[in-house]
Amino acid sequence: MAQPRGQFGSKVGFVLAAAGSAIGLGNIWKFPYLAGENGGAVFLILYLGFVFTIGLSVMLAELAIGRAGEKNPVGAFARLKGGPWTVVGYMGVFTGFIILSFYSVVGGWTLAYALQTATGLLALSDAEALGNAFGAFVADPIGPVGYHGLFMALTVIVVARGIDTGIERACRVLMPVLFVLLAVLCVRSLTLPGAGAGIAFFLEPDFSKVSAGTVTAALGQAFFSLSLGMGAMITYGSYISHRENLPKAALWVTSLDTLIAVMAGFLILPAVFAFGFDPAAGPGLTFITLPAVFSQIPLGAFFGTLFFVLLAVAALTSAMSLLEVVVAYLVDEKGVPRAKAAWGAGMVIFLLGIPSSLSLGVWSDFTVAGKGFFDIMDYLASNVLLPTGGILIALFVGWTVYPQVMDADNGGIGHEFRWAGVWRFVCRFVAPAAIAWILVNRL
Ligand code: TRP
Repeated sequence: MAQPRGQFGSKVGFVLAAAGSAIGLGNIWKFPYLAGENGGAVFLILYLGFVFTIGLSVMLAELAIGRAGEKNPVGAFARLKGGPWTVVGYMGVFTGFIILSFYSVVGGWTLAYALQTATGLLALSDAEALGNAFGAFVADPIGPVGYHGLFMALTVIVVARGIDTGIERACRVLMPVLFVLLAVLCVRSLTLPGAGAGIAFFLEPDFSKVSAGTVTAALGQAFFSLSLGMGAMITYGSYISHRENLPKAALWVTSLDTLIAVMAGFLILPAVFAFGFDPAAGPGLTFITLPAVFSQIPLGAFFGTLFFVLLAVAALTSAMSLLEVVVAYLVDEKGVPRAKAAWGAGMVIFLLGIPSSLSLGVWSDFTVAGKGFFDIMDYLASNVLLPTGGILIALFVGWTVYPQVMDADNGGIGHEFRWAGVWRFVCRFVAPAAIAWILVNRL
C-alpha cells in the first residue's frame, strides 16, 4: 500500500503548521479560564514549568518518533518496535475522537460569535447581559449543534484535500494576523481602568492556592496546548524532511505556543477584573469577556468579528491536526481513501460531540461526580489520556528507540544536538515519574 506521503514545503512551513496545531482554543479559550479557576499566577508558574521541561521533551520525542517512523502513530509504533507499544498509537487515535468531539463544539461557538459580533452583540454593554447572552446561546439545543456541525465540516474539507495543500498555506498568512490583533487587544485590555487587579492576579502568586487539582490542571493544559500525548506531533513529524533540525523546531513551536497563551492571559484576565466578571466563571470566560473588550474600542464590531474569525481559523488548524491523526491511521493502515476516511471519521466525531453541546443546556442534569458530559470528555482527555500517553511516549523514546531516533544517517536527530543526554534523562526518568506522581496523587 505504498501511497506517496505528502511533505511540508519548507522549514518555516513546518514550524508554522505545527504551531498551527498547537495554537488554538487551548491558548485563547482554555488557558485564561483555567488560570482564572486555579489561582492565576500559581497556575501560570506551574504551567510554564511543565511546558519547558516535560512538554518540550515530549514534543521532541513525538517529532522524532514521527520522523523515524514516517507513519501515523499506530504505524510508527508498529514499525519502530511493534508489540504492546502499538497500543499507544491506538490510544492516540481514540483520544483524537474524544478531544475533537468537544473541541469542535467550542470551535462552533467561535463561528457563532463571529456572526453575532458582526450583528449587534456588542450592543449589550454590561457584564451581566453578556454573561446571560452566552449562557442562553450555549443552552440552546439547536444553534450550537448546528455550528458544531459546520465547524466539523470545515475541518473535514481541509483534511480531505491532504496535508500539503490546505494546512500550510492557511497557517502562513493567518497566524501572523492573529498575533498582531492579539497584541493590539492586549494593550487595550491592560489599559482599562481597574485592569491592575487582573495583572496582579496573573503575576503575583499566592502559594496557598496550590492543590492537587491545580497541579493536574496545569499539567493537563501543558499537554493539551502543545498538542502532545496523542500522536498529533508524531503524525506531523512524519511529514517533515530529514534535513530539518528537530530540536530547534520543537523549541520554536513550544515557545510560540506559550507566548500566545500568556498573551491571551494578559488579554482576558485584566479585562475580567476591569469589568467585574468572576475569574472562575469557567468555559464561558473568554466568550463573555472579549465582547466587553470589543465594546471598549473604536470599530469594536469590526475588530471583534475579525478576531473571532481568526480564532475560528486557529481552532480549525488545531482541529485539522486532531482529525489528521485518525485519517492518517485509516489511510496508512487500513487503505481507506483519504476523503472517505475524513468524512467518515468526521461524522462519528460530530455525533459524539452532540451530547457535549447538549450537556450545557437541556442535558445539564446528567452529571457524574458533579461534571456534565462536556466536562467529563475534557477531563478524561486532558487530565488522564494525554498525560498517560505522554508517559508512554517518553518511556518509548528513553528506553526503547533512542538509538534509532538519534541515528543521523537515517533521519535521526543525533547530529548537532547538544542536549541529547539531558533529553534522554528527562524521557527515561523525570517526565514519566513526575507525570505518574501527579496522576496518582490526583486519584
Ligand atoms: N493544542 C490545540 C489547542 O491548544 C488543540 C490540539 C490540537 C490538541 N491537536 C491536539 C490537543 C492534540 C491535544 C492533542 O487548541
